[in-house]
Order: sequence, then structure tokens, then C-alpha cells
Amino acid sequence: MWSERSAVDARENRVSRALREARACGRRVLDLTVSNPTTSGLPYDLEGLSVALRDAGTAPYRPEPLGLASAREAVARELSAGGPPLSADDVLLTSSTSEAYGFAFKLLCDPGDRVLVPEPSYPLLSHLARLESVELVPYRLRYDGAWHVDRTTLRIDSRTRAVVIINPNNPTGHFIDRGDLAAIEALGLPLIADEVFASYPLNTSSRDVRAARVAGSVLSLTLGGLSKLAGLPQLKCAWLGLAGPPAQVAVARERLELIADTYLSVSTPVQVALPRLLESKDVTAGAIRERIRENLEALQRGLAGSAASVLHVGGGWTAVLQLPDTLEDEAWVLALLLADVWVQPGFLYDFEHPSYVVVSLLTPSETLQEGVGCLVRVVGDRA
Ligand SMILES: Cc1ncc(COP(=O)(O)O)c(C=O)c1O
Repeated sequence: MWSERSAVDARENRVSRALREARACGRRVLDLTVSNPTTSGLPYDLEGLSVALRDAGTAPYRPEPLGLASAREAVARELSAGGPPLSADDVLLTSSTSEAYGFAFKLLCDPGDRVLVPEPSYPLLSHLARLESVELVPYRLRYDGAWHVDRTTLRIDSRTRAVVIINPNNPTGHFIDRGDLAAIEALGLPLIADEVFASYPLNTSSRDVRAARVAGSVLSLTLGGLSKLAGLPQLKCAWLGLAGPPAQVAVARERLELIADTYLSVSTPVQVALPRLLESKDVTAGAIRERIRENLEALQRGLAGSAASVLHVGGGWTAVLQLPDTLEDEAWVLALLLADVWVQPGFLYDFEHPSYVVVSLLTPSETLQEGVGCLVRVVGDRA
């Protein structure tokens, strides 16, 4: 009766069970994985937001499959700021970046087709692909003080339709370097470039940020959205920007228009408000930039001299910690939970080696600092 792609694996893994039980007994767990900007104590430009949303609710409905021109123009300005200019005609609005992935897979893939994706990376990708009956084929990322694509794993066949890059990647926080991008571009396949965290560089010069569209010789679909850019996931508005060979861009636009017309999923109020929402994003985006910088420094300071270390972070909201290989990631997470500290095990992101755990740099700074102190004690006891 049921489709394969909607199958649910409802089994709870050991770490989520342990977290649930710790919370159920009323223990105060220091959560170092907080990544919801709306519950992280960040400031918002309340005046700007209320002006943006005030009249939007009563705006007349105009079903525009690509999105209202005023909204697309605002997104085009935003995307053009960090790279080559993009026109409003090359922008399509979606209700989330996840939906934009779904549209990109519908545009490029038939059931059973393959898409190359980085590994480790964003866990939701496997669900997004399964729901479109698309098979993901990982290409490995390797760390040697910086993250690189293992180019020997960039393998395609006649059913491979596209390559995903996440720039900067979640959770490794690295921006793709020019050489790796050129190797990916040389595959000659469309690029799906997830840039949701591109406005949060930490150590990388901004010239690397819009790498995908600089590539130019292949069709690229750049994904971004309000959830990370403005810290407004609840408004449900994201986008997909097209670039590359003009004939391919034209066909992509036409087909995406039909896909988007089938759903018309982006609410009129958020589209009407979008230009003002983007103008008033800097209060929150600036506070996020400050917090991730401060938290990264606190992690580096707190772990100095311990057996744990932070891997290099180029940007984004996550940091990867390397713990001693006396335990594997699951055992480390359970040991840390006994000390009331919650971090994510690397296996959630498909790290090759089991000694990594992941923390969110969006975590309120006092919680992060207290948690790092506990982590250093646990690592000291078990190293
Ligand atoms: C790399 C990456 N892409 C996309 C998303 C989803 O963004 P949205 O909230 O716009 O669907 C996330 C959310 O965490 C993410 O980490």
C-alpha cells in the first residue's frame, strides 16, 4: 500500500534516547547544538520587521510562479552583492531551501538518477533525495588542516545528473577552494550550490563565497534563504538563482516556472515584505556573525592544551571537534551527556573517522563556554 520513498525509520538511536531520558529526569543539559535563531536570544530589528510585515497581510493575491518581481529583484540585488550580477529573471522564490532542493531534483533528475553530494555534509539531503526517488552518491571530503575534496571520489556515470556543493559546508564549515571547484566543474554537470551560510565567513576572504557562479561554464542553481541570511526560518522564504550558459538558463527557467506554478507555495505576504525584510536583516545577521566569531574563539581558547581540538572553520554556524580516539563518537556523546553536555555525534553527518563531534556556533555564548569547560574535564578523564 505504501511507497518505498515515504518509509519511515522510527527507531530511536542510542544518543537521542539518552538525551530524551536525561531531559525527562529533569537534568539541566547544556545544549551545544542550538541552531534555531529565533530561540537563541538574538536581537531582531523589530521596527523594521513590523514595517515590512504591516501591510503585507492584506496585499492582493497575484499567483506569480517565479515569485513577485519586486521580491525577485531584492533577491537578485542580494545575490549580486557577493559575486557576478544576477538579474531578477534568474531568480525563483521557494518556501524553503529544502523545497528549492526538491525543485532542483525535479528539474534535473528522473527516478533512479544520481546526484553527487559531499560527505560529510547536511543530513537532510538524503531525505530530500529519497522523496524525489533520487540516489545520492557521496564524494569524500578530507581534512589535513583544511578540508579538500578527495577528487578520486568524484565518480560519475550515465545516470549522474548533477553535483551538490555546500558553500560553506555544514558541518565542516569550509568554503570550496578554486582547484576543487574546477575539478567539479570539469565533470560538466549542473551544479546545485547551497549557499545558505555564505554570508557568514569566519576566516575566508569573501571572494570565495560565490564560487559556484564564478565557475560559469555549467548551469548552476544557487540556493539560499531567509532562514539563515536573516535568521527568519519561520517566514518560510528561500530562493534559487540561475546562472551559466544562457540557453540552459532559459530552459531551466521555463521548466522551473512550471514546477513552481504547480505548487505556488510562497505566501504573498512574505513576498511583498521581502525587500524590506532583506533591508532590515543586518541587526540579526550582524549579531550572528559576532556570536559565531566569539564562540569559535571561546572554543579555541577553552580547548587549548586539552586532548580535544577544533578543526579549521571557514564559515557557517557549526564547528567540528576532534576528540581522542580512545572512544568513538557515540561513546563520547554518551559520556558527555553523563556530564550534562549535549553535542552531536559525527556519524549523523557521515564522517569517515569516528572521533568527531559537532557543536553549533549559534549556541548562546555562556552555555557554550560552560559546556566547553565540562567537555575538557570529561576528555581529560577519558583520554
Ligand atoms: C546546508 C543547509 N542547507 C539548507 C538548509 C535548510 O534551509 P531552509 O530552512 O531554508 O530549508 C540547512 C538548514 O540547516 C542547511 O544546513
